Amino acid sequence: MKEITLRACAKINLTLDVLQKRADGYHDIRSVMQTIDLCDEIGVTVDAGQWSCSCDGANIPGGEENLAMRAARAFVRAADVAPNGIAISIKKRIPSQAGLGGGSADAAAVLRALNTLCGEPLTTEQLMEIGASVGSDVPFCVLGGAALAEGRGEVLTPIRGMPDCAYVLLKPAFSASTPALYAALDRQSAIDHPDTDGMIEMLSRGDLQGAAGKLGNVFQPVLNADHPVDALCEKLLRVGALGALMTGSGSVVFGIFPNLSAAESAVQQLRGGDFEVYTAQNG
Ligand code: C5P
Repeated sequence: MKEITLRACAKINLTLDVLQKRADGYHDIRSVMQTIDLCDEIGVTVDAGQWSCSCDGANIPGGEENLAMRAARAFVRAADVAPNGIAISIKKRIPSQAGLGGGSADAAAVLRALNTLCGEPLTTEQLMEIGASVGSDVPFCVLGGAALAEGRGEVLTPIRGMPDCAYVLLKPAFSASTPALYAALDRQSAIDHPDTDGMIEMLSRGDLQGAAGKLGNVFQPVLNADHPVDALCEKLLRVGALGALMTGSGSVVFGIFPNLSAAESAVQQLRGGDFEVYTAQNG
């Protein structure tokens, strides 16, 4: 029996653009993604005697339905290894239904853990390829850092990430269905596209204020039609955020602050709201 514990870090989308619907039903996207240090803790044991996946998070499936388990099954097939069972345990810290890629982060951590425990049979590129079969955000979570994500999210170009800063994240009680948001976008005649190239330029210059000014997510107006997403961003701006945006398909919104003490002072002022509050830094 061999065991490893590692961190599975969340991601935020600094920009998220949807270009077109593809023949396979997915959409081509362009997104700048950044890893943050809000992490789940993943324990993986090979030769555990049986296959199992347990998760302490409410409303998150254990067993075969969990993305982490699907990643483990896909790894075993691709790496052509035959362990006597794999046990996965997930300590959830990343809120789910949030747009933070929590399930994808767990799946990616399992791929990295199994590759280590099995003697590195696969390259990082191969792990990313397996990850793409599990979920569109998994390849980025395998890679980590900051990247431009294209294709359906699996075509990744590493870029310079966010300068040192801190994030305050607000998780409201409502959440969105990712496929429903894509479908709503398909019905729209005009989309206000974010300036992803401008974001990459600001990041390459290390310009925090400039990057905060380039935040944009095509899903935000769609979800805002039914839920007060913009109002949450405004709350963050009122307590000193340089910029604020919904991540992924929501419903978490994040604000960018120059440092942790500014973020913590904002958290004090946000107390008592109808949302969970998290702080994070680049991961
Ligand atoms: O790949 P993943 O399982 O995370 O995607 C969930 C759903 O989101 C897909 O079934 C699809 O409806 C939608 N999606 C999409 N285009 C993408 C990523 C996801 O249409 N690039």
